[in-house]
Amino acid sequence: IFSNVELAPRDPILGLNEQYNADTRPTKVNLGVGVYYDAEGRLPVLKAVQIAEQELAKKVSPRGYLPIEGIATYDKGAQALLLGKDSELSKAGRALTFQALGGTGALKIGADFLKQINPNANVHISNPSWENHRALFERAGFTVNNYPYYDASTHGLDFAAMLAYLDTLPAGDIVILHACCHNPTGVDPSFEQWEQIANTIKAKGLIPFLDIAYQGFGDGLEEDAKVVKLFARLDIPTFVSSSFSKSFSLYGERVGALTILCASKEEADRVLSQVKRTIRTNYSNPPTHGGTVVSMVLNNEELFAQWESELAEMRDRIRSMRSALVQKLKENGVTQNFDFVLAQRGMFSYSGLTQAQVERLRNEHGIYAVNSGRICVAALNPKNIDAVAKAIASVL
Ligand code: LMR
Repeated sequence: IFSNVELAPRDPILGLNEQYNADTRPTKVNLGVGVYYDAEGRLPVLKAVQIAEQELAKKVSPRGYLPIEGIATYDKGAQALLLGKDSELSKAGRALTFQALGGTGALKIGADFLKQINPNANVHISNPSWENHRALFERAGFTVNNYPYYDASTHGLDFAAMLAYLDTLPAGDIVILHACCHNPTGVDPSFEQWEQIANTIKAKGLIPFLDIAYQGFGDGLEEDAKVVKLFARLDIPTFVSSSFSKSFSLYGERVGALTILCASKEEADRVLSQVKRTIRTNYSNPPTHGGTVVSMVLNNEELFAQWESELAEMRDRIRSMRSALVQKLKENGVTQNFDFVLAQRGMFSYSGLTQAQVERLRNEHGIYAVNSGRICVAALNPKNIDAVAKAIASVL
């Protein structure tokens, strides 16, 4: 049965971790995967998480099956982060949230459900997009196309081309959008541009799927959710995949959520029943620990405030690393203008490095970046930034 199985290529992002882990050079630096490290280069355990876990450890709790849709308080908290605490949609029972296995799990459940209800649609992702978007929606059975997004000549957004493309799509087609901190480019539309995107999507009857894996890493939790609220306000049937992997530094707990905005409570009840079947036939129901911790933080005022301030610290540290990188590149004699790095949002910088330059960084310097030239600024720190800047300067 296995004789014809072909060897698959390594995953473009997680495959880098495998290579990095096997690298024995002590000076190696992992700027590949989107993971936040602190100034000491350590994966942080947030104080808010520690407090919640200590609280949890005080009592032995049984581990029965969770409901298919997950922990109710987790879902409520995740939804409030997207739509606001006083959301009319939530109050009217028109918004559904399902605890999911990370942002990827949320995308997968959404993709499978969409394939069931909208099988002839095509999916459109930004050019470029997160490497896994195409693979994930293709696996769910969709044809996946690219819409224009990044303009390499300006290091910015090709907004006119993006909008013109959306305008050609037939009703029902699915558009994957990054609600903030675009992965991999760090280039987001302005809010005015978002309004035009949302209006086009509504007018054309397209189905938006907002991926928000980096909420809090742009301008703040509330600010970064503005785009989700915009789609909600316009009464557009919308899918949202959200993730707490980065914002809680709980990558291995697979804490994410799928939220679906419906036209009425009655519609939402029907959607709920079908998405529960999708989850049941994928993994039955989600795990308890990570969801419980996140739920405790989201639903406790003090812990929430603690978390929000830790998130702000992470955001500020990434910003300071952006400035440091630009400065150090100059100090290392780079004459190209890298100021665009300062305007990019979130964890990533789309550096403009070519695949050949990325390979040299990896082979000659033990510095790992994604082949597209994406580097994770959140993995830079005062100890490794000199070596990274020097290495980048040497391959440019
Ligand atoms: C990334 O883009 O590096 C992260 O979202 C991690 C992943 O799963 O690819």
